[in-house]
Amino acid sequence: MNRIHAPKGTKDLFHPDIAKWQFLEEKIHAYYTRFLYREIRTPIFEHSELFIKGTGSETEVVQKEMYTFKDKALRSITLRPENTPPVVRAALEHNLFHEMFPLRFYYIGPMFRYDKPQKGRYRQFHQFGAEVFGDPSPEVDAEVIYSARGFLEEIKVPGIELHVNSVGCRTCRPPYLALLQDAASAAAGSLCDDCKRKIDTNPLRIFDCKVPECGEASSGFPTITDHLCAECHDHFATVRGCLDTLGVGYAVNPRLVRGLDYYTKTAFEITSTQLGAQDSLLGGGRYNNLIQELGGPDIPGVGFAAGMERIVLHLEALPGREAKSILIAYQTADHRLEAMRLAAALWDRGVAAYVEYNANNMKKQFRQGNRIGAAFTFILGEDEIKTGTVSIKDMEAHEQTKIKREALDQWLKQNL
Ligand code: HAM
Repeated sequence: MNRIHAPKGTKDLFHPDIAKWQFLEEKIHAYYTRFLYREIRTPIFEHSELFIKGTGSETEVVQKEMYTFKDKALRSITLRPENTPPVVRAALEHNLFHEMFPLRFYYIGPMFRYDKPQKGRYRQFHQFGAEVFGDPSPEVDAEVIYSARGFLEEIKVPGIELHVNSVGCRTCRPPYLALLQDAASAAAGSLCDDCKRKIDTNPLRIFDCKVPECGEASSGFPTITDHLCAECHDHFATVRGCLDTLGVGYAVNPRLVRGLDYYTKTAFEITSTQLGAQDSLLGGGRYNNLIQELGGPDIPGVGFAAGMERIVLHLEALPGREAKSILIAYQTADHRLEAMRLAAALWDRGVAAYVEYNANNMKKQFRQGNRIGAAFTFILGEDEIKTGTVSIKDMEAHEQTKIKREALDQWLKQNL
């Protein structure tokens, strides 16, 4: 029979790599609690309309990458490609904008994009992210950026670079886009077909094109940073000032455009010099119109999301994370039940213990003990059971002792 494989672009996660994921998840929970964010979990599928309206109908994510299907009642459903619109939806649906303070959320979970899989790019991938609602202050942008960068530093991701930009607002972006379209039309002969199409639909994305000729052509295009309105200009200056005060290293990149439509004012990205083509570790920015566009009140937002696969790639192996474990070995099948009782006594005390039930000799049990990396083996034989003792072998020091069962708690306290 033909074996069934995992779908392209997906990954199974298991020991020993899963330890890195558990480590990362624990760190995220602890870290964001420090900033008074609260976790939010939303469904992995939503009505497609949420992303068409929220992420933006002109974005590549919506146009090319969504997993969209009809459910049995013929509703159009989409596996979430990102979590910002779902968090806004949830906050609106549960009236959180009025009932919760501070309005700061973080999340961890799978996202889905039908993209071309390669190293660091998957069809099911995981993001952790944060969203702050209700505060238009540039200081919030700086705090969000500070927390994102600080997190990567805290878990020692090497080679990180922070890029910041302002993408303007409803006032200054339209006249700037007109200028950009003029420049791009004049240079259309040097642009790839894809970029030619973007001149009318999404000219900012020309800056993102990886084709060298397009990069060369767009290097002379006007940049938004030179055409910001006074409010956006001041906002951006304050964000940079805060970052300077906080000692956060960054580069202003006037060509930084993000693939999602909702950004206003601040946009940022953290890349890694060690990631190759898919070098973006996280991205985010301010979105002052999204909540209103999704039917809510006029409340601003700012946030980011990080690709967890890309972060995990950088985490060192995490030795010694697992608790010291104990193998309970029994001499003959007659002692197996007693071994199980001893294991239960250890489990009840929070100790990791293992019994190999499917073994008719000690040699096989010891072999399994090696495979689980047991630090100690408790041996139960005729003599131990008769005398109410247990023999304990230290697997590293190769020493053996015998203790009374009553002394077990004390032994555990001293040795684990
Ligand atoms: P995004 O830039 O689309 O932003 O994605 C954020 C991060 O998710 C990327 O920097 C990358 O690390 C990771 N990522 C994206 N696509 C893939 C993929 N196919 N495979 C692996 N990793 C991937 C957002 O999603 C926004 N919701 C961020 C945000 C939150 N903005 C404001 N609030």
